[in-house]
Amino acid sequence: MIQWPPRLTLANTPTPLTRLENLSRQFDGLTIWIKRDELTGTEVSGNKIRKLEFSIAEARAQDCDTLITCGGVQSNHCRTTAILGVRLGLKVHLILRGERPQLAEGNLLMDYLSGAEITYLPQRDWHEHQDLAHKIQSDYSAAGHKAFFIPVGASDEIGLWGYIAACEELKKDFARLQMVPEYIVVATGSGGTQGGLILGAELFGLSSQIVAFNVSDDAAYFEAKIRQDVTLWMQRYKQHVDMKKLKITTVEGYIGPGYGVAGPEIFETIREVASSDGIFLDPVYTGKAFHGMLSELRKGDAGQLAGARNVLFIHTGGLFGVFPQQQNFVFD
Ligand SMILES: Cc1ncc(COP(=O)(O)O)c(C=O)c1O
Repeated sequence: MIQWPPRLTLANTPTPLTRLENLSRQFDGLTIWIKRDELTGTEVSGNKIRKLEFSIAEARAQDCDTLITCGGVQSNHCRTTAILGVRLGLKVHLILRGERPQLAEGNLLMDYLSGAEITYLPQRDWHEHQDLAHKIQSDYSAAGHKAFFIPVGASDEIGLWGYIAACEELKKDFARLQMVPEYIVVATGSGGTQGGLILGAELFGLSSQIVAFNVSDDAAYFEAKIRQDVTLWMQRYKQHVDMKKLKITTVEGYIGPGYGVAGPEIFETIREVASSDGIFLDPVYTGKAFHGMLSELRKGDAGQLAGARNVLFIHTGGLFGVFPQQQNFVFD
């Protein structure tokens, strides 16, 4: 029996799970499915809201009136936290990696519109971001407030619950559709979605293998990060899973030039999926993972998704990250 921790209801769930009819026709005997987690909300959307249902519930349980979190200038997680903070009556302070851009676009525009306080920390000092967060936390405390720190991407033992809960939802989806995919594909950046899916699949007895495509770091990083978060999760919530059973599969090779920077093949994939099935991916996360998935499927039995009859792609959102990069799309 799972003992759930405090949780807020913030996401519009269950999200739809549908076939990608047109794209699937490219492959013999294979159906590509999509879990539309970009539809968990409009401005507050994507995978992060599932995690924040638990992180912000914890902040409230601790009587905090302020949230501090951090990420890239175009962080979807920071934008989601900024907006949820306003809605829930919590002050939000963001620590963003890099310099203040001249123009606030995409997610950053929404951070400013929702009134978040923003501190920029240059890339070269980013390794100190947790220290800075704790300093800001002490400053709030000295001013009579109580601030709760949510790490990058809400990827910690609390945020893991978001995609554990999503696995309960997926189990119902699979029963309704009478289909269990051999593979569940997802983009991984700070590891919490991947880790939650791996843990949730184990807890809810889903036989699908979780295959993540990394958009930063490498497979060894996600192996260590997820094992650490699951260990902390077991300690904090007095739960037990057999660590040996957790298979952490991270497929490398699709980052391209770097985190947040994509090659022309990613913009082409975004165009292809939008024009075939009306689904919109982003160049930082979902576009890279989707491109990786298609590339591996095209390798057939030599690829990382060998033997697939049904593959499920989790669309984790990120639409607002498209617009700051719109100049990279090429049309005939
Ligand atoms: C749109 C989108 N997809 C995927 C991810 C990756 O999720 P995670 O950080 O849990 O690895 C993120 C956030 O980092 C994201 O914003």
